[in-house]
Amino acid sequence: EKGGFRHFMLKEIYEQPQAVLNTFRGRLNPETGEISLPEISLLPEEIQRISKIFIVACGTSYHAGLVGKYLLERWVGIPVEVDLASEFRYRHLLIDNHTLAIPISQSGETADTLAGLRMARQMGAKIISICNVLGSTITRESHGTIYTHAGPEIGVASTKAFTSQLTALLLLTFYLAQARGTSPEGCRELLSALVAVPGILENWLPKWHKTSEEIAQRFYKARNFLYLGRNIHFPIALEGALKLKEISYIHAEGYAAGEMKHGPIALIDEQMPVVALAPKDHVYEKMVSNIEEVRSRRGQVISLVTEGDETLPEVSQATIHLPQVVPEVSPIVATVPLQLLAYEIAVTLGCDVDQPRNLAKSVTVE
Ligand code: F6R
Repeated sequence: EKGGFRHFMLKEIYEQPQAVLNTFRGRLNPETGEISLPEISLLPEEIQRISKIFIVACGTSYHAGLVGKYLLERWVGIPVEVDLASEFRYRHLLIDNHTLAIPISQSGETADTLAGLRMARQMGAKIISICNVLGSTITRESHGTIYTHAGPEIGVASTKAFTSQLTALLLLTFYLAQARGTSPEGCRELLSALVAVPGILENWLPKWHKTSEEIAQRFYKARNFLYLGRNIHFPIALEGALKLKEISYIHAEGYAAGEMKHGPIALIDEQMPVVALAPKDHVYEKMVSNIEEVRSRRGQVISLVTEGDETLPEVSQATIHLPQVVPEVSPIVATVPLQLLAYEIAVTLGCDVDQPRNLAKSVTVE
């Protein structure tokens, strides 16, 4: 049942090329750049009317939502708020019938996300959910659902569901951008980048796995980890830290790299591994300075860099290479080695990665 893998989590990490493919298959035409999502049963005038988007989710799905904000604001031009469902449901919400709410949930049964959905719907919002489980409660209560089609996820730590959610958010972004006539040209290029992702993951998985094993052997004794990223990789820093803490019980925090000097830099010493997401993008130079700050306090830097970068590996104690991809699909790609790193550290520590203590796969109570 684990297909020769030692754990479901590892099997599901390796299933990501297929999961991402399943999410976009049949929904895009790379030649014309057209996206078809008939499940979003919104009329063109309803799409035109949207003035605000709320993304509501918990845990890993919330991190996908944070990436979605960057995508939607950049390509659709509508302001997006991303809320933890447990906060969303108890705050004063400014929602009306010009609002689109996007609950994101692997299971489709998360109590807080469902409660948030019901509130938004009652206040007049249109609800388009992103979900992995067919016929789940969240899908039944939404106006439309984009299914991720990642296949059943058994490991408690979410892996392939997350990268599929990122894929679904890209599709939704392009769909709305096309319906509203914002940047159709740019979208076509991005679609080819998305179509290339499954092949890229397939190629890189073995390398990432090997590197993660090596890094795990060197760092598994650390009691704390810091994960840093900026812009679209900031949520991936949060997700990397969540994966590590939930399966290895090592304390890990994700931070926006620019926040370092506002507090967390006080934690840095030679005992502190810092995982820095620093691919070549428009905030690369900023990441380089953050890494230098960490180094000057003798922090141990594990950097994720674009292939061909010769600068950062020299100042880092360990390096994970990433393929050269456009920023929009980079979060999908950068997530996978962080899942493998968390997995290898947890396995080295002898943890039960598929059934971490205190955690349930589906959180149906508040
Ligand atoms: C983390 C994890 C949880 C879930 C969260 C939301 O690996 O699995 O943080 O992401 O409980 O669950 P769904 O997406 O089912 O609503």
